[in-house]
Amino acid sequence: MEEAKAHAGEAAAALVEDGMRIGLGTGSTVRYTLLALSRRIAAGLHVIGIPTSLQTERLAHQLGIPLTDFSATRRLDLDIDGADEIDPGLCLIKGGGGALLREKLVALASERVVIVADESKCVPVLGSFHLPVEIVPFAWQTTAERICQIGATCTLRQIASTPFQTDNGNYMLDCDFGPIDAPQKLHEKLKLLPGVVETGLFCEIASMAIIGHEHGIRTVGK
Ligand code: A5P
Repeated sequence: MEEAKAHAGEAAAALVEDGMRIGLGTGSTVRYTLLALSRRIAAGLHVIGIPTSLQTERLAHQLGIPLTDFSATRRLDLDIDGADEIDPGLCLIKGGGGALLREKLVALASERVVIVADESKCVPVLGSFHLPVEIVPFAWQTTAERICQIGATCTLRQIASTPFQTDNGNYMLDCDFGPIDAPQKLHEKLKLLPGVVETGLFCEIASMAIIGHEHGIRTVGK
C-alpha cells in the first residue's frame, strides 16, 4: 500500500514545472508528493504553494516548500490532492482527513486538479466511504436531523469523545447514504440545508487521477 501511494504521489510531483503556483493537498498520499517536491526544490526548482490544511502547512514548513496565500495570489496552476473514493467519471469523495473545505477552495482556484491515490480508492459507485459533510457547530443536532431526513445515517466525527473540529472551527458529520447514484444532485441538495458549510463530494473538479499500484501507476483522464 505504501509503495502504491509513493508511486502516485511522486508521479504527481513530476508534473510540477518551474515557476508554478501549486495547491498542496492533504493526506498520506500527497505526503509523497511533498517529499518529492522538497527534493526538487533543494535541486533548484522554484515553486510556491498554498496548503489545504494546517497539517500540510506544518509539513511544507518542515520540508522547505515556500508557501503563499490568497492575499498574494488568486489563481494556482496545479492542485495535487488525495481522495477517499474515485468513481469512473472522476467524481470524488473527500474529507476523510477533515480538510474538505480548504481542499475544495484550493481546487476551485486551480487551472488543473490532479488526484493521487492507490487502487483501493477506485470504486464503480461512490458511497461505501461515508460522505463527510462540514457543518457549523451551532445547532449541529438539527443540521444532522435535516441530513437524516434526506436519507442518510449521520455520525458526528469525534476524537476521544470530543467533537472533531476542522481547521475552520466547524464540525464534521460522516453520512452514510448507501450508493450515491447522482453525486452532484446530492451535493446540491445538501448545500441548501442551513448549517451545512460544504460537502465532500467533488464532481467535475479533477481532470486527472494518478492511481498507484505496487509496480507503478496508471492514469485516468488528463
Ligand atoms: C483530506 O480531508 C482528504 O480529502 C484526503 O485528501 C483523503 O483522505 C486522502 O488521504 P490519503 O491519501 O491519506 O488516503
